[in-house]
Amino acid sequence: KSIGLSYFRERGFNDRTIEKFELGYSLNQWDDLTKTALSKGYSEGMLDKSGLMVKKEDGKKYDRFRGRVIFPVHNLSGKVIAFGARILTKEKDQPKYINSPETDIYHKSQALYGMFQAKNAIRREAFCYLVEGYTDVISLHQADIENVVASSGTALTEDQIKLMRRFTENVTVLYDGDAAGIKAALRGIDLVLKGGLNVRIVLLPDGEDPDSFSRKMGSTELKKYLIDHTQDFISFKIGLYSKDAARDPIRKAEAIREVVTSISLIPDPIKRTVYLQETSNLLKIQETVLFTELNKILITYRQKKEEDRRREEPREIAPDIEAATQKSEAVNPEELQEREMVRLLLNYADSELEEDIDLLTFFISEFEDIEFINESYALIYNAFLRCRNEGKLIDSGYFLDNAPEKIKALVADLTLRKYYASPHWGTKYHIHFSDEKEIIQEHAHQNVLRKKYRYIQRLIEENKEKLKDAEKRISEKEIDDLLEMQMKLKNADVEIARELGIVSGRYY
Ligand code: UTP
Ligand code: MN
Repeated sequence: KSIGLSYFRERGFNDRTIEKFELGYSLNQWDDLTKTALSKGYSEGMLDKSGLMVKKEDGKKYDRFRGRVIFPVHNLSGKVIAFGARILTKEKDQPKYINSPETDIYHKSQALYGMFQAKNAIRREAFCYLVEGYTDVISLHQADIENVVASSGTALTEDQIKLMRRFTENVTVLYDGDAAGIKAALRGIDLVLKGGLNVRIVLLPDGEDPDSFSRKMGSTELKKYLIDHTQDFISFKIGLYSKDAARDPIRKAEAIREVVTSISLIPDPIKRTVYLQETSNLLKIQETVLFTELNKILITYRQKKEEDRRREEPREIAPDIEAATQKSEAVNPEELQEREMVRLLLNYADSELEEDIDLLTFFISEFEDIEFINESYALIYNAFLRCRNEGKLIDSGYFLDNAPEKIKALVADLTLRKYYASPHWGTKYHIHFSDEKEIIQEHAHQNVLRKKYRYIQRLIEENKEKLKDAEKRISEKEIDDLLEMQMKLKNADVEIARELGIVSGRYY
């Protein structure tokens, strides 16, 4: 006991902490634990199965964790299911930590160290810090930060993310500021995003881990540091990849691709849009450019997924709902815009934008005779119109009841998940995923402008073609008319562009 205790004391762990995490020590003798356990009635089979005892080929048995301080791993109800054991000295040929093997009750890839001690705090704080090691978790607790878990010894897994998800949607990755830490953070970010969680990052100064840093700083300062240095993943990645991107277009392109690639992993389309908007603001680049980039990546994923599936199932398979949705997925930017418009209608047709003007009324008044390119979107929009003329207001349910399979799948996709951030998260970090309803007015106006913008772009192109043709035929009158039309279109174009805040005139 005195050996183990003095080690923990030296690391600055107090009694309360030691008790809270049930830290211990295993004597530096070959089989002290095994013998003691057997004498207390535990069976050899159990010691073997739990990994506490190791049996050599020659039949000799010894304690797996002998001579090490012990970090028990708890399940969610606080029962010990495994152990991590740290060496006391700095022997080069010995691993620093030895962990329990996989057992019936312990699956390393599904456990998070500290979850039992953290779960109430995670619920209370509405987010969770993710660190790398046992001692990081413990030191943060001692600094009065209890919403913290570690992936301990494995690279973060999908199952671990699922476990976090049971308690919060918000994860803050807290790693060393050195190259290895950044690399681990980047990997962690993408995995967490893919798991549908929101991710933030705090980088510590180079050379510090949460354990060393919290001991240096003290509780109050540490808490302040963490809050001040929490970045969302967009700013983090932009900071990493674009130190001098402002002047260097190649670096900027790289930064954009990096960020958009991470965004593309987010399963929820609404969240993806919110993040694209943020990226657009930070990098001062038009949202549509980002949209196009994102769409490219998404399409590549889908194609890859589709290829993988074909490889696995060489025979023709019946087109399922997913395939139907994918098919109707917009690719061209104008269609993307239509998709967004239809999505807004399906979710918020009856939302009041101004007094007595709901979203549908607004769209109708703005788009008197606009044409949709995409058949499915046209069908949905026209159904809204038809029903409105009959004095009915429909919503997504109408399509889910009546429409053909393909449309049903599309409607389901467009209304599937709405995102609301925890109110806590917003007040704490001044980052606000607003309930989309709050910003629907702004959103609807933007959408109308964009749709018009695209429409005008198309008319301009068509007009140009006509002009070429007329020039070939040297038809003076026609050329004059077309040129006049071209000018009107250009004027409209400039006006809308100004309202949309597009300066360069390049709008993909
Ligand atoms: P670290 O080396 O950062 O450990 O490894 P640490 O927790 O900060 O330990 P101290 O501060 O040196 O005592 C991070 C985590 O990786 C696992 C452990 O879970 C550790 O907490 N690990 C590390 C192992 O499983 N085996 C090892 O040999 C080393
Ligand atoms: Mn450490």
